[in-house]
Parts: sequence; C-alpha cells; structure tokens
Amino acid sequence: MDGVRKTFDEWAQNGRAELMEIEHGKNVSKFLDSITFDEPFSFLDVGCGNGWVVRKIAKQSNCKKAVGIDKSKKMIIQAEKKTDSKKEEFVHTDVESWKYKGKFDFIFSMEALYYSDSIDEALKKIFQLLRPGGQFFCGTDFYTDNKATARWKDVMKIQMHLHSKKEWKEFFKNAGFQVKTKHIKDLKSRKKWKREYGTLFVIGTKI
Ligand SMILES: C[S@@+](CC[C@H](N)C(=O)[O-])C[C@H]1O[C@@H](n2cnc3c(N)ncnc32)[C@H](O)[C@@H]1O
Repeated sequence: MDGVRKTFDEWAQNGRAELMEIEHGKNVSKFLDSITFDEPFSFLDVGCGNGWVVRKIAKQSNCKKAVGIDKSKKMIIQAEKKTDSKKEEFVHTDVESWKYKGKFDFIFSMEALYYSDSIDEALKKIFQLLRPGGQFFCGTDFYTDNKATARWKDVMKIQMHLHSKKEWKEFFKNAGFQVKTKHIKDLKSRKKWKREYGTLFVIGTKI
C-alpha cells in the first residue's frame, strides 16, 4: 500500500480527519461563502477526507449532486457514515485513475493535490472532469512562500510536493486553465503563518 493511503487510513480512525475539518474549516468556509452558487450545479471534492465539504455544499439549495472521492478507503467509510443527504455520494478512488463519464460544474480540493504522484496528471484529469466554463478551487496551506509549512514534509514522511504560488499557477496554465489566486488569512489565529500568508486558493477556469 502506498504511504499516502496508509497515513490517511490511520488519520480516518484516530480523530485526525475531524481535526482537519476544524483546522481547515474556517478558511475553507470563508472561501466557499464568497462563491455564488446561484444556478443548479454539480460539485466534486477531490481528496474529501471525512466528507465535511461535501456535506456543507449539499446543503446549498441549488446543489443537484455533491460527490467526494478519496484514495483512502477508511476516509470514505467515515464519510459514508456521516452522510446526511441523498445528494451526497462518496467513491473510493484516486483522482488520476477514476473512471467517470459525467462532468462537474465545480471541483474543489483542499490540502490533497500535492500528495498525488503527479500534480500534472491530477490536474489534467480534473480539467477533463469539468464542463466548459466550470471552475476548480484548489486550496493549499503547504506552499513555498508560506515558509512555516515547509517542515510538514519532514513530519509527515510521505510524498508531498512543495511548490510556490508561481509554480502552482504554471501547473494550472499547462493543464489548460485560466488561473487566478486568492489568499484567505485568519487574522485572529494564534499561528503567525495563518495571519500572514493563510490558505492559498488557486482558481482555475475551463474556458
Ligand atoms: C490532508 S487530507 C485533507 C482532507 C480534506 N480535504 C480536508 O480538508 O479535511 C488529504 C486527503 O487527500 C487524499 N488524497 C491524497 N491524494 C489523493 C489522490 N491522488 N486522489 C484522491 N485522494 C487523494 C488523502 O487520502 C487524504 O484523505
């Protein structure tokens, strides 16, 4: 079993999935609350963990379907247990090899893409999974500019690709996206990096 899957299978069972929900929740909610979901839409969360973003989005009245995928089987089991709406669906798969024929209006991913074997391959697949005009929202706390997070790689001891904001933008452009970025800071946080850098959201639009 690969290290990423093994680590997150453990996190699904030791309370770390809920801790991520708390740790990421504030900035992710702030970001998602800035998006206008004013037309019926479908939504995919790549690396959904215990599924908290899928449950949050499914509550939007215009949401027709919210799907979460994760390469950790145990995360998907947790997500399925917590399901609270028929609009939600969870699938155990990595994004790269997922065989899915439909298209999504919005794709989201928080702190997941940099664990993939190849960010290029993952982005290529996400681009294919979007309908024309669709958008991909990719949140990361782990990026070169945010120096305090670079040491996470030594702590985690699994594959984590560290890139700068500039490099992330290039990845998106190479996959065919039109790209914008947004920093969401938490000015009240005790952590300096959350106040000064915060979560980097790379926003890709498929024209
Ligand atoms: C740090 S956790 C973040 C979970 C959730 N997005 C959150 O913010 O709470 C990263 C998750 O991404 C999943 N993951 C990593 N690489 C993936 C891939 N290539 N395809 C699907 N899931 C992946 C992991 O199994 C893990 O559950």
